[in-house]
Amino acid sequence: FKPKPTRTILLVGLNNSGKTTLLCNLVISMLDYARDMENIDQVSTCPTPGLSLVEFQQGRIKWRVWDMSGQGRFRNLWAYYSGHVQGIVFCVDVTDGDRIATARDELQSLLDQPRVKDMKIPIIIFANKADLGNGDLGDADNDNNTSKSKSLSLENVRMALGVDSMNQNQKVKVMSSSGLTGTGVSEGFQWLNEAIR
Ligand code: GTP
Ligand code: MG
Repeated sequence: FKPKPTRTILLVGLNNSGKTTLLCNLVISMLDYARDMENIDQVSTCPTPGLSLVEFQQGRIKWRVWDMSGQGRFRNLWAYYSGHVQGIVFCVDVTDGDRIATARDELQSLLDQPRVKDMKIPIIIFANKADLGNGDLGDADNDNNTSKSKSLSLENVRMALGVDSMNQNQKVKVMSSSGLTGTGVSEGFQWLNEAIR
């Protein structure tokens, strides 16, 4: 008998980047009765008040995810919780170029946290809302979407967040995702699971 491995995760990123949406859709997608997703309405979220803990089982792995509020007044909680996790999910809204510098500052201060730095806690960065973007998942032929022209590519996100100048030993991966359609999300959690081992 082997005990089920637990993965305790910090889910952070600016408010409105889509953290709660991607987490809800990930959990729903694993429910048996949701196999036929046409039967499920789109989740609707509210801004997370402070934080919320979501636990779920995926195969042999038990995930404990601290879904943090991204609102400015609650961001100081990220540092505290970073001292108690094995992995970090950092969510960026690719249509929110105006706040990408703020996202970088918040990511960099998280990287300066003692446990994150010393234990080299792995980080998956979701370039999220890719369904609206001009990036790898976007529909290049559809010009009807006004946010498309303003949205950041995967490379823009890497550069703006300073990913390439991070400590070489830190395991960091940037992936396109859509919390709304689920694209990329499960793969990102899988990468994180393997990076933690
Ligand atoms: P806080 O809890 O305030 O930090 O916000 P959050 O990061 O949890 O954002 P939330 O999941 O509540 O989503 C904010 C808004 O973005 C909602 O209106 C979502 O429907 C929308 N949204 C989230 N993810 C996506 C996505 O992948 N694509 C699109 N098009 N919209 C998304
Ligand atoms: Mg939320």
